[in-house]
Amino acid sequence: MLVVEDLHVEVEGKPILKGIDLEVGAGETHVLLGPNGGGKTTLLMAIMGMPRYRVTRGAVYFKGKDITSLTPDARARLGIGMMFQKPPAVRGVKLREIAQTVASVREVAHPSAPSLEGIAERLNLSGHLDRELNYGFSGGELKRSEMFQLLCQAPELVLLDEPESGVDLDNIALIGEAINDLLGKREKIKERKASGVIVTHTGHILRYVNADKGHILIDGKIACHGNPRDLFEEVQKHGYGRCQSCR
Ligand SMILES: Nc1ncnc2c1ncn2[C@@H]1O[C@H](COP(=O)(O)OP(=O)(O)O)[C@@H](O)[C@H]1O
Ligand SMILES: [Mg+2]
Repeated sequence: MLVVEDLHVEVEGKPILKGIDLEVGAGETHVLLGPNGGGKTTLLMAIMGMPRYRVTRGAVYFKGKDITSLTPDARARLGIGMMFQKPPAVRGVKLREIAQTVASVREVAHPSAPSLEGIAERLNLSGHLDRELNYGFSGGELKRSEMFQLLCQAPELVLLDEPESGVDLDNIALIGEAINDLLGKREKIKERKASGVIVTHTGHILRYVNADKGHILIDGKIACHGNPRDLFEEVQKHGYGRCQSCR
């Protein structure tokens, strides 16, 4: 589903990613852990093709196709969706309008998909559909708004940048459920099509979402791979200090 090959990325002329290799198979969910400033957001932004994240070496492949030079909207149309760590607010565009736009692309492929109103209701967002996109939304509302847009888009590769940050405990379970829906976790493993890359700082989301593989990203390089829960336990006990030496 996703292959990242020797990826080097610069932001504002500063090298951030220094040779990342990552392979995510169909139906797999991977978790990225790492200290602040390690480059997790940069990696997701570069996979999505955001313009400030300049690829200086290496490539990104989606379903076998080299997408390294495609714009973010072209990548979204191919089936890549992203939840931003800090989603932008857009004045003059209603949440309903953006959801209809992304859903209209999807409806061609999924005629039996649930209605936009139904998805909004599940995420406690029914009263927010006619608000301007993310404008004045609380931390929890922002994350639910992002999740709502992703469920409308139904991407095959889902990139989630700290989906639980700013979300109160009541709503974390809701976000976890939505992620399981997005990733088709209710289907049999062989029938799952969507893949995910989840950045998590707190690890809370791992209580609701089963991940297959974990990676620790430090200073622009992957220091370690392993079972996501093992990695998280190790980090909780010892911090990232011990990973530094592996890097
Ligand atoms: N727009 C930007 N301008 C300058 N530096 C940036 C920008 N975005 C990220 N960086 C730098 O890139 C490094 C990695 O950041 P980031 O990818 O956000 O890490 P993480 O998500 O792991 O906390 C940090 O040193 C950060 O300051
Ligand atoms: Mg980040």
